[in-house]
Amino acid sequence: MKSISLQTELLLKLEQNHRLSRPEWLLLLTHPSKELSNEVFSRARRLRDRIYGKKIYLRGLIEFTNICQNNCYYCGIRSGNPKVERYRLLPKEILACCRTGRDLGFRTFVLQGGEDPFYTDEILTDLIHKIKQEFPDCAVTLSIGEKSKESYQAYFDAGADRYLLRHETATKEHYQLLHPKELSYENRIRCLFDLKEIGYQTGCGFMVGSPGQNTEHLAEEFLFLQRIQPDMIGIGPFIPHHETPFAKEVKGSVEQTLFLLGLIRLMIPDVLLPATTALGTLHTRGRELGILAGANVLMPNLSPVNNRKQYELYDNKICTGEESAECISCLAQRLHSIGHEISYERGDRIKAL
Ligand code: 5AD
Ligand code: FES
Repeated sequence: MKSISLQTELLLKLEQNHRLSRPEWLLLLTHPSKELSNEVFSRARRLRDRIYGKKIYLRGLIEFTNICQNNCYYCGIRSGNPKVERYRLLPKEILACCRTGRDLGFRTFVLQGGEDPFYTDEILTDLIHKIKQEFPDCAVTLSIGEKSKESYQAYFDAGADRYLLRHETATKEHYQLLHPKELSYENRIRCLFDLKEIGYQTGCGFMVGSPGQNTEHLAEEFLFLQRIQPDMIGIGPFIPHHETPFAKEVKGSVEQTLFLLGLIRLMIPDVLLPATTALGTLHTRGRELGILAGANVLMPNLSPVNNRKQYELYDNKICTGEESAECISCLAQRLHSIGHEISYERGDRIKAL
């Protein structure tokens, strides 16, 4: 009983100061009760509603290549998986996805892909120019991995507005457990600092319940987020993919993901926080629950229907039907059922502090 009230006190402190110390995070993150979670959710909702109201921002996700030069142990499209049928969309096909999206009402396109060297800086900057020219009222978000600062600058100068690069874990040793030695924690973090410095609205994030993750790691996540102050934070449960070294690992939990979403909202009240596809994959109402825990962004799939199955980062990734861009009216209904509504604005971060 005593520790529950202590944890509640920490919630109040977090809501007021937007930061906690390492020991405080450890205490808050250890064995949260149902009551504590519910307390987090209602406080997170209140904070979010004060800034963003009941509006949920939409991002049209275009998964434009599943070819990747990296070999992350968790990811289904890793280079070491010979079983995936690989695909690349040409710039004109990507533009066609944007057109479909614009007609459906989307004002943000997220260009996400593996680290595919086919897309040179020249191809990418040309594409970004074309998108911004044809859709001047839309934001372009890139999610294409680790690049040099010069490349990031070139995309920004071409008109890219936002960049998503999950750091995956804030602990170096844990990073090494999730990635082959060719990938370095230092470079990942360098990328995030470069992106911020250039002026992108920058998003980072991590998987919940990835192999080897413990409470100390989670405390480290929050300390890291406090330090880097991202504009967007993407978190979702780890889900094993059968053709990866982590095929037999245990999946992350929906409850824990929801709890962490709520805490993130309390820590950075004005952050853009998606209820992710991975959450929707583990629970039919996962994304609604994410919104009820404090999220305010959804990223429906705008990729060509034929390619969706091929962009399989983890097993059973939802990719057709109600969660996709075509069924905006189903989405609107689902949001309405929990007291929310779709926003057709660009959905930039509203700086509240
Ligand atoms: N389970 C959950 N999320 C995953 N991602 C990659 N593989 C998995 C998996 N097996 C996430 C990573 C990556 C994002 C695009 O998808 O966090 O940054
Ligand atoms: Fe492509 Fe990790 S497998 S970046």
